Amino acid sequence: MQRIHTAIPGLDRLIEGGFPENSSVLIKGGAGTGKSLLGLQFLYGGVKDYGEPGILIQAGGFGTTLLWYEEMLGWDLAKMQEKGKLVIYSFKPKDYDKFGPTKLQGEVLGKLRNIIVPMGARRVVIDSATPLSEKLSDKADYRRSLYETIEFFKDNNITSLIVSDGGKAESGLCDGIIELQQAEEPNGEFKKQLLVSKMLATNFPVAWYPVVISERGFSVRPFL
Ligand SMILES: Nc1ncnc2c1ncn2[C@@H]1O[C@H](COP(=O)(O)OP(=O)(O)OP(=O)(O)O)[C@@H](O)[C@H]1O
Ligand SMILES: [Mg+2]
Repeated sequence: MQRIHTAIPGLDRLIEGGFPENSSVLIKGGAGTGKSLLGLQFLYGGVKDYGEPGILIQAGGFGTTLLWYEEMLGWDLAKMQEKGKLVIYSFKPKDYDKFGPTKLQGEVLGKLRNIIVPMGARRVVIDSATPLSEKLSDKADYRRSLYETIEFFKDNNITSLIVSDGGKAESGLCDGIIELQQAEEPNGEFKKQLLVSKMLATNFPVAWYPVVISERGFSVRPFL
């Protein structure tokens, strides 16, 4: 099986070298646990280290956050965008009306297809799917939309990360699940942690591992 390197130091060795090619992995966790940074680094490292073009589909959150990351981490996202290796596609709350079941299929997926296919994207991050799940209050509609979206990625040789706060509706559809949390230590400090709780076709240790976020980005300490 081909593996897609995660570009997260310490993570590949937990999951036999990377995400299974064309898999769709749920990244779930509460606010501030590092979901967006992990997703962005998967795309940034994908372009920089592996020459794999990627697209970030932003729904919820602000574009300014990316500017902060660029500044903090010294990542030249603008240059990657100019070269067409990285696309950032942002939905604003006023666009969420498009997230109806039929429009999503036609308009939104159609538009994305017109970007994703010509650029030859191999990596996609949806950050986050939560506004879509809130918009499609009918869980069956939401699951169907997500199913079709993931199916489109798989058909186009794309490995995807789906960011979600809760992750309940997405768990069964995704091939893998990575959970992030901030856990309280006995001294009252909170430490960020990562758990791989599902990864198809992969042998992985089921344990919480420390996460470090610094000016070098997101990394996992794979030794307990
Ligand atoms: N320079 C830094 N050094 C240490 N930690 C940092 C630094 N910059 C950011 N962080 C940490 O990274 C976290 C940001 O993570 P991120 O935005 O990826 O979270 P998130 O899970 O996407 O949150 P949300 O659910 O609100 O979108 C901050 O909470 C902060 O703790
Ligand atoms: Mg975020």
